[in-house]
Amino acid sequence: MSTKVNLELPQHVAIVMDGNGRWAKKRHKPRLYGHKEGAVHVRDFVEAFAGYHIPYLTLYAFSTENWNRPRTEVEGIIRLFSENLDEAIKIAHKQNIRIRHLGKMDRLSPEIQKKAKAAIDMTKNNQGLTVNVAFNYGGRSEIVDAVQAIAGQKIKPQDIDENLFSRYLYTAGMPDPDLFIRTGGEMRLSNFLIWQSAYAELYFTPVLWPDFGQEELEKALIAFSKRQRRFGGLQPQ
Ligand code: IPE
Ligand code: IPE
Ligand code: MG
Repeated sequence: MSTKVNLELPQHVAIVMDGNGRWAKKRHKPRLYGHKEGAVHVRDFVEAFAGYHIPYLTLYAFSTENWNRPRTEVEGIIRLFSENLDEAIKIAHKQNIRIRHLGKMDRLSPEIQKKAKAAIDMTKNNQGLTVNVAFNYGGRSEIVDAVQAIAGQKIKPQDIDENLFSRYLYTAGMPDPDLFIRTGGEMRLSNFLIWQSAYAELYFTPVLWPDFGQEELEKALIAFSKRQRRFGGLQPQ
């Protein structure tokens, strides 16, 4: 590319990394093989993504609803996540990437919680790309958490507005995603950043996550640059 091409770039890209299972199925392999490939692909993808100097990337890795899958698959995904974490952190830190976690830590083992906290702490002062890893994340659960936190503060109802509410979300202090990408062909949000994506441009592609590389990312960025964002107003004349 064309990282040099003068495109109107988003500030925050959110990606539903879907299609690992189908990627494996096409190759007559078990679903976990697809998850493994998907996890390895994340590293290459983040490296390529960093080249565009877009400040925020949020990756949906495991939803609160994904606990409904067979236990062996859930355990396999979590094991892969844990195994990949150490290496991924080292690479990220070298690339000046700041890692954040979106979601709940509960239900995750103390070992993973410790690793995740170490990753966040180690990279917190990095000034490059911020990568939010949405793991054990659910948009509705995030909203309920925010409501509970606000109620606990005894804030007056009339003082609650959209800005205040946003400060109680996991994404506090970050811009809302302006480009929402979903790989794997499904055209739904699946409980991902449902508050924050109120005005995101949606981009759905049938390409399966392990195949979604730089070329596909560029297609999405080009599509984004051609969208007219109006936010309820009128298009400038
Ligand atoms: C996305 O891939 C990864 C997770 C949800 C953890 P899937 O596992 O949903 O892949 P498909 O949709 O079955 O192909
Ligand atoms: C969304 O994919 C969650 C992640 C990619 C982590 P799913 O495969 O779980 O979504 P549904 O079940 O098709 O809505
Ligand atoms: Mg899926």
